[in-house]
Amino acid sequence: MTILWSRLVLWGVFTLTFTRTNCTTRRRRLASSAYPIPGFNATYDYIVIGGGTAGLPVAARLAESGASVAVVEAGGFYEVDNGNYSIIPWYAVTMPLLSDAPDYARQPLMDWDLLTVPQVSARGQTAHYPAGKTLGGSSAHNTLAYIRIPKGTHQRWADGVGDEVYEWENMLRYYRRSCTLHAPDWGKRKMPNASFEFDGSICDSDPKGKGGRGEGPIQVSWSNWVDPATTWLARGIQSVIPMSKEGFNSGKTEGTSAWSSCTVNPKWAERSSATEYLKGAIEDTEIMVYHHTQALRIGFDGGKKADSVRVSTQGLEYTLTAGKEVILSAGVFHSPQLLMVSGIGPKSVLSSHGIPVIADLPGVGQGMQDQVVSQVSWGLGTIPTTSGLIRNPANREKILRQYLDHGEGPLTFAAGGYISFEKVPSSLRAGLSQRTRDLLDTALSPDWPEVEYIGNAVVNFTTGETTGIIGIILLHPFSRGKVTISSANISDPPVIDPGWLTDPADGEILITAIKRARQFWNTSALTSVKTGPELQPGAQVVSDADLLRYIKNACTTIWHASGTCRMGKNSSDGAVVDSKGRVFGVSGLRVVDASVLPFALPTHPTSVIYALAEKIAEDIILGR
Ligand SMILES: Cc1cc2nc3c(=O)[nH]c(=O)nc-3n(C[C@H](O)[C@H](O)[C@H](O)COP(=O)(O)OP(=O)(O)OC[C@H]3O[C@@H](n4cnc5c(N)ncnc54)[C@H](O)[C@@H]3O)c2cc1C
Ligand SMILES: *[C@@H]1O[C@H](CO)[C@@H](O)[C@H](O)[C@H]1NC(C)=O
Ligand SMILES: *[C@@H]1O[C@H](CO)[C@@H](O)[C@H](O)[C@H]1NC(C)=O
Ligand SMILES: *[C@@H]1O[C@H](CO)[C@@H](O)[C@H](O)[C@H]1NC(C)=O
Ligand SMILES: *[C@@H]1O[C@H](CO)[C@@H](O)[C@H](O)[C@H]1NC(C)=O
Ligand SMILES: *[C@@H]1O[C@H](CO)[C@@H](O)[C@H](O)[C@H]1NC(C)=O
Ligand SMILES: *[C@@H]1O[C@H](CO)[C@@H](O)[C@H](O)[C@H]1NC(C)=O
Ligand SMILES: *[C@@H]1O[C@H](CO)[C@@H](O)[C@H](O)[C@H]1NC(C)=O
Repeated sequence: MTILWSRLVLWGVFTLTFTRTNCTTRRRRLASSAYPIPGFNATYDYIVIGGGTAGLPVAARLAESGASVAVVEAGGFYEVDNGNYSIIPWYAVTMPLLSDAPDYARQPLMDWDLLTVPQVSARGQTAHYPAGKTLGGSSAHNTLAYIRIPKGTHQRWADGVGDEVYEWENMLRYYRRSCTLHAPDWGKRKMPNASFEFDGSICDSDPKGKGGRGEGPIQVSWSNWVDPATTWLARGIQSVIPMSKEGFNSGKTEGTSAWSSCTVNPKWAERSSATEYLKGAIEDTEIMVYHHTQALRIGFDGGKKADSVRVSTQGLEYTLTAGKEVILSAGVFHSPQLLMVSGIGPKSVLSSHGIPVIADLPGVGQGMQDQVVSQVSWGLGTIPTTSGLIRNPANREKILRQYLDHGEGPLTFAAGGYISFEKVPSSLRAGLSQRTRDLLDTALSPDWPEVEYIGNAVVNFTTGETTGIIGIILLHPFSRGKVTISSANISDPPVIDPGWLTDPADGEILITAIKRARQFWNTSALTSVKTGPELQPGAQVVSDADLLRYIKNACTTIWHASGTCRMGKNSSDGAVVDSKGRVFGVSGLRVVDASVLPFALPTHPTSVIYALAEKIAEDIILGR
């Protein structure tokens, strides 16, 4: 146990000093000196609101450039606050706080306790929407998948916001700067029938740098374990959508399938979150971290320049002044909320809550896109699956020792399983209405997938048998949701309406996707092992009307909400920030996080958010 304890020990709180071995120019810094005593007004060059997936990379890069930087984070340290759930990959997909049920198991130290408004076009009821309240933000409890977006998506991004840096070739250096790639450990995976090829250059540092596997803070790898039942789902999917030879991180995903890479440090198989950036910055810079501290509102200089942040550490209020800029990285729900309570947003909303208007920006909180998931499942009899192995008391000690002593075994299984991306194939596309086909063809580039399929397996706790699941993700919802406020007080939660399935195109696309998933289940690989009748939607659910009813009743979120402070060329078309994250109509204020994404990304977004944070940090440092 002492070995475990020393590995999970909270860096920066229990560790009093870092010693530098290869750096002689800087003096030693006490790690504890990175945490200011709350209650005192102070001035920094930059104040970053939100120490999450985007906020920590931005703050760390600014601090590295020599600027003085404060991070204001409402939460604490997940290594303590979430037990071992945020460390061990297996819990990334199973920790109870992920539940969408309105009566979910609360975890107030980690989660913002957000609920959606009732989803009238879908399940009719409210849903819990998890969002990380901790250093690391949602990267501290997400399901670890690391997958980039296609070249054509980057081109649309660049064209849409008028900034060629968003083209694939130009963004590569930011992707690379953010991560280090580890090749699969075939010896630990022990599954020759699940081998694959991959592009090892995806994390190489800048072409002019050292090359090799990269040196960015985020550790990217493949699990040190393969779920046995998922190998069958992989075989079924592969016989319809071929396996990629390079993986999902080299600019092409459409029409291919692969084992997903994930944000795990493979040495001990522990989560690699945005706090990787913080660890480096605490050691190498003068960064200051106000944890357990909520930003209440952004202050202005009497005109339109943001110059301060009013904060509260558990009710103790004080003011941090920004000599240069305020960077807002509070995430897709809280960034628009904080803008609105600070006087930036739709004038009608601000006025109705008595908030003085600094800038009338109609787009704030609008345009939310939220990808929904559905699934098709069958029994897989007694093929072993990870949850079944872990649940069996007879295996407990062995599995624990495999994990703790070698960083291998079922507890290292992360994210996703076997994944594929594609456009609705032509045979099924004919079943879409002309409107839906036109919407898809206009919105998306030729290499931009419309649906993602995820093969995974779980044990049925009642029967002890394995259930195989082909999850279905609608990658480009045409429904739009929104985030607004119920008062001028940041302590009142934002009002979240993801608008699930409010546009009929989304239901149509999902109906074709269910039919496609049934084709995977109908391959010889899967007919040879599946048992019993189809579990979900069920063999009797066949007509489009019945399929739609199933989709509406059973759909939920995959937690990839985006676009509530959308990036664009001009606020008159609903954009909130320009391509460098600068908020229209004011100065000294940027937004950098999932809220600025110009459209739902056809992937799991963290890989892109890290690269985006690197890009905008460089914009700031170079005075752009
Ligand atoms: C359950 C779940 C699973 C997911 N699975 C995956 C996956 O497998 N792969 C993937 O790529 N993506 C996944 N995602 C999506 C991805 O994790 C998010 O899109 C991404 O982390 C969002 O980054 P962000 O910087 O926008 O916000 P966050 O990382 O959430 O950061 C926002 C930060 O701001 C802080 N904050 C908010 N308001 C205030 C305030 N007023 N004052 C101070 N601090 C404040 C929050 O506490 C938080 O730390 C998942 C998300 C969730 C929730
Ligand atoms: C995780 O923590 C729990 C106690 O909360 C403990 O029972 C379990 O063994 C731990 N798991 C590992 C792999 O260390
Ligand atoms: C792959 O090998 C594992 C371990 O031997 C086995 O359990 C699984 O059924 C095999 N999968 C396929 C598709 O052959
Ligand atoms: C802190 O700053 C606020 C806002 O500028 C100011 O009202 C207050 O007097 C300051 N407190 C101290 C102790 O200087
Ligand atoms: C487990 O199997 C039982 C019996 O077939 C079924 O009623 C139940 O819905 C299954 N549970 C899940 C979570 O699929
Ligand atoms: C904001 O709400 C919190 C929590 O309800 C409350 O403690 C605080 O007094 C409110 N602030 C204002 C200015 O009303
Ligand atoms: C499954 O495949 C068989 C023939 O291989 C075909 O007749 C049947 O229609 C298919 N079913 C589905 C749901 O695709
Ligand atoms: C935004 O667009 C409007 C109308 O197209 C135009 O008048 C305005 O100058 C534009 N503003 C900027 C900042 O480009």
